[in-house]
Order: sequence, then C-alpha cells, then structure tokens
Amino acid sequence: MDQILRWHVYPDAADLASRGAQAIVRASREAIAARGVFHLVLAGGETPLAVYERLREAKADWSAWHLYFGDERCRPRGDPARNDTRIAARWLEYVPIPPDQIHSIPAERGPEAAATAYARTLEAVGEFDLVLLGLGEDGHTASLFPGPALEIAQATDVLPVRDAPKLPGARVSLSASRLSQARQVFFFVQGGAKRAAVAAWWRGEDIPARRITPPQGVDVLLDVQALGWCP
Ligand code: 6PG
Repeated sequence: MDQILRWHVYPDAADLASRGAQAIVRASREAIAARGVFHLVLAGGETPLAVYERLREAKADWSAWHLYFGDERCRPRGDPARNDTRIAARWLEYVPIPPDQIHSIPAERGPEAAATAYARTLEAVGEFDLVLLGLGEDGHTASLFPGPALEIAQATDVLPVRDAPKLPGARVSLSASRLSQARQVFFFVQGGAKRAAVAAWWRGEDIPARRITPPQGVDVLLDVQALGWCP
C-alpha cells in the first residue's frame, strides 16, 4: 500500500512539542468517547520526550489510557538507556495511568524471548488508536533500520533486532505491518540533523519510515529546521 503523507511544519521545537501534545490529547478524547479506551503506542528516542513532558499537565481521562512501546532497548529494567525508563521519568511518574495499563516490552529478557512475549501481549489489542514514531538520520523508525532485516519486517508483529546501527545493538521492535494497524500515526521529527532523511522521504525513497502505511495515512509533525527551510 502506498503511504499517504501529511506534513505539519512548526516554527520551532517548543511549538512542535506543545502542538504534538495537544494532538495526542485530542486523539485520546475521540477514542475514549467512541470506545471507552485509548490504545497508544509510544515512540522512543529523544525528540518525543519534550512532547511527553507537556502531557504532565494535560486534562485527560488517564484511567482509560493503555500504553505500548514501539521499540525497546535490551537493557535491564530501570536502565537509563531504556525508552520506558526515560518516558516514565519525563511523564508517566506525573500522571495516574494505572500501572497495569503501561505495557512495557520485557526487553531485559533479550531480543527473541521479549519479541515472543510482547507479540502475545499485543494479541489482546486490535487496531491501535494512535502510534507515535520518531525518525532517525538514516530514515529508520522504531528499531526498523535500513537493510535486509527490514524485509522480514512484514512477517510478524514483533521483531528481535541484533546489531542495530544505533546503539544499543540488541533491541525489540514492532514490525512495520503491526505499527500500521492504527487509526492514526504521528511522526515527531525535529532539528537539522534529520534534514537528509526528510528530503529522502519527501522524494519517495524507500526509507523504513515509508513502510508505515496505516489506511488513513500518517501525519509528520516537524520543525522548519528538519524541513531544511529557514525564513
Ligand atoms: C529508539 C527510537 C528510535 C528514534 C529515532 C529518532 O529507541 O532509538 O525508537 O527509532 O525514534 O532514532 O531518535 P531521536 O528522536 O532521539 O532523534
């Protein structure tokens, strides 16, 4: 399926973060009004942390939120390099989402065992309401990196990743097809370092981010620095 792309450009990182947080809360209200629950997949990495921080103050029905992770680094629980550890420190410790509704990837068990276990967790969830993703400088997203491993990304829901070019090498990632089973997908892209990846995406090159093809398309929220256009 071809990827439907919508670009939303913001003047700076602060505006991107606050608009992104507003869009997430809006999506939660729509999902909860329609189905009584909000299934949200969180993006790892640095960029979305500023968005998560703004969610601390949000007026939301946290009791209806179920959180999942698009990928995780295979480090011990609580390790500061883990996405769930960093997201908890910047957001989750400030809001009353029931702990049993925060579905971390058991990445401490190693890529293969964690992928098998998390695929079982996801069996209970159909289409996600919203998936959040970042974009790497090489066009990767979650832990789906360019190269031969990407080809198997369609086969299963959750993938073990070894030798990832972005350290740590051992990771677990939702597959492109599972990340695409979503009503909405937001990419958060910020800063001049992403300019080449954004340009490749814009030109239609087959970067991993282009493999995310939810039926309603994806929304890319980026700042002018990442777009490579400065007034
Ligand atoms: C990870 C992320 C990864 C990230 C991109 C962008 O665990 O590393 O899932 O895919 O989203 O590498 O990272 P930044 O937002 O830090 O640039």
